[in-house]
Amino acid sequence: MRKLWQRVCMSALIVGSSILVHAWADPIVIKFSHVVADTTPKGQGALLFKQLAEERLPGEVQVEVYPNSSLYGDGQEMDALLVGDVHILAPSLAKFEHFQKKIQLFDLPFLFDDMAAVDRFQQSDAGKSLLTSMEDKGITGLGYWHNGLKQLSANKALKTPRDARGLKFRVQNSAVLDEQFKALRANPRKMAFSEMYQGLQTGVVNGAENPYTNIYSQKIHEVQDYITESNHGVLDYMLITNTDFWNGLPEHVRDTLTDIIAEVTVEVNNQANALNERDKQSILDAGTTEIIYLTPEERDAWRKAVQPVWEKFQGQVGADLIEAALQANNPDTE
Ligand code: SIN
Repeated sequence: MRKLWQRVCMSALIVGSSILVHAWADPIVIKFSHVVADTTPKGQGALLFKQLAEERLPGEVQVEVYPNSSLYGDGQEMDALLVGDVHILAPSLAKFEHFQKKIQLFDLPFLFDDMAAVDRFQQSDAGKSLLTSMEDKGITGLGYWHNGLKQLSANKALKTPRDARGLKFRVQNSAVLDEQFKALRANPRKMAFSEMYQGLQTGVVNGAENPYTNIYSQKIHEVQDYITESNHGVLDYMLITNTDFWNGLPEHVRDTLTDIIAEVTVEVNNQANALNERDKQSILDAGTTEIIYLTPEERDAWRKAVQPVWEKFQGQVGADLIEAALQANNPDTE
């Protein structure tokens, strides 16, 4: 770990000094790498960012978008950003625990009532403070992009928490999500996004948790007989850049990109729900997978089963941050 940090720090120095020494070559090439399909909210956002950046900074900026883990996958993309091999990422908020434990907040199950509450928290002072909280590690947050709420899937109908017992679930690289499945007496297995389909197909894992856009675009429904519409947690993104790279950009370029990102963020966050609904309908049309709807009482049983996870992570996340997130569920009492 220490060696990796030394390597990262050395490379950051090299990247930083090369930014200072060289005048920017024209055009400035911005590599945006991500792990999902072009059709998803993040995929669409990356393409819109490219389009607007190249339109408004013609000849000055060229954006290369690498979807579907085609340049870097989970486990490599953060290192690549830190050493300056890629310039923009939008990892799931579940993938920041090595850099900022407070971001684990977003993985706490059943924390937010709906995406409007997620949005209110992200726009609050508490939410915005997380964007700048990793600058000492060389990471600057540029905004939050929505995907949506996660649904459980398996080859067995999951109606009650007991149904999940003993099943192996693919999880992102997140201690909170690991504990969430342990609380259900299931077996979590951390696995890169790009390996999930094969993991499910071969039975290395039996189930997963994803928003509909990721289920449909990764063809997860083809290898899962049931989806429980649990809406039990959020899968959103932090758009991030390498701090030295960003601060080293010519001011007018940085300002224009900042405006573009604000515009793209609004667009992505407005469209995310519709894209999830579209993909839910496509899954229904495919006829491969039954969608199970829970009554409020059934959903409450899932909530109770995973509630102990909150207490486990309260120390790392902070009671104040959890409180701020809960406030976002009740905007009228703020
Ligand atoms: C993503 O939407 O970027 C992937 C999330 C995951 O690893 O499940």
